[in-house]
Amino acid sequence: MSKEIVVSGIRSTGYLHLGNYFGAMRNYVKMQDDYNCYFFVADYHSLTTHPDPKDLRANVYRVVAENVACGLDPDKVALYAQSDIPEIPELYLMLNMLAYKGELEKVPTFKDKVRLNPDNVNAGLLTYPVLMTADILIHKGKHVPVGKDQEQHVEMARNFAQRFNHRYGEVFPEPYPFNFGSTLVKVPSLDGNGKMSKSENLNATLFLADDDDTIRKKVMKTKTDSGPTESNSEMPEYIQNVFQLLRLVSTEATLQSFTNNYNDCTIRYGDLKKQLAEDMIAFIAPIREKAKAMQADESLIQKILKEGAAKARVSAAATIAEARKAIGINYY
Ligand code: TYM
Repeated sequence: MSKEIVVSGIRSTGYLHLGNYFGAMRNYVKMQDDYNCYFFVADYHSLTTHPDPKDLRANVYRVVAENVACGLDPDKVALYAQSDIPEIPELYLMLNMLAYKGELEKVPTFKDKVRLNPDNVNAGLLTYPVLMTADILIHKGKHVPVGKDQEQHVEMARNFAQRFNHRYGEVFPEPYPFNFGSTLVKVPSLDGNGKMSKSENLNATLFLADDDDTIRKKVMKTKTDSGPTESNSEMPEYIQNVFQLLRLVSTEATLQSFTNNYNDCTIRYGDLKKQLAEDMIAFIAPIREKAKAMQADESLIQKILKEGAAKARVSAAATIAEARKAIGINYY
């Protein structure tokens, strides 16, 4: 039986962090044996914020290196740069004709961007979910491993797929967000405000490239308080966040012991943070070192990208031919 198709991407806008790992890359690695996987660096998506051309290449290479350092095997998956697949912008153009200004303006991530950068409300930002849809549908992706923050974008991709099929006939499957375990992941920021992010909350985000001291400093600044005064009291959200981080990288025994301390009011957050920092270091340091070593070997990264693009273009070419035919672009 042929394997089900998985597609997902990561923008090349900065260093990858724990949120990217637990929301996306951990799933990529777990899926690579059992699915037909297409994972890419979303370099076109990064252009919405006009990065310096000098930085683009290193940013793209770093995303590749960090993915491989996390355990992704380029021989098992197609790992490529979005801009190496010209069929993606072609499908994006087709889908843009089916996407309405009103619905795009209502997307919460668009509204957030408008609020944060009122001077740069460009058309690419507005149609960001349409490009995402093209990324997914170009391979007829069914499963899209993403974090919670991308859930709504995948829902829009599903709507656009339905809309295309309704108008032109059944071409695309309906994609769904994917996570091992029941719910999509949101890794909280260390300061209790929102989520870890490549572009906001930088001091409250743990990056896969952070050195040990930086990790210690950031974790020790995590928001806590003086501890509960009544046994078994409910945890405030920022304390729940700390426990969530502990759950990601610490052992079950560590988690249980601090949970017991919380419940009987003997918890010392200084000790918890020290433990969390050391567990984070044990988790991040090997990834950091592997990614660093790989980035020194540009020819290896180029080989991965070229081979990944060659694999991805086979599937992209087949899909775009089908989409053109369905639309009626079929002249010769
Ligand atoms: P990006 O680059 O912002 O993030 C990459 C992946 O990391 C997940 N993520 C998180 N998960 C949990 N907690 C967090 N704090 C956290 N922060 C980020 C994201 O959900 C994502 O899965 N638009 C996408 C890239 C993209 C894409 C696609 C994804 C372009 N085309 C097609 C899937 C399919 C983005 O900006 O992700």
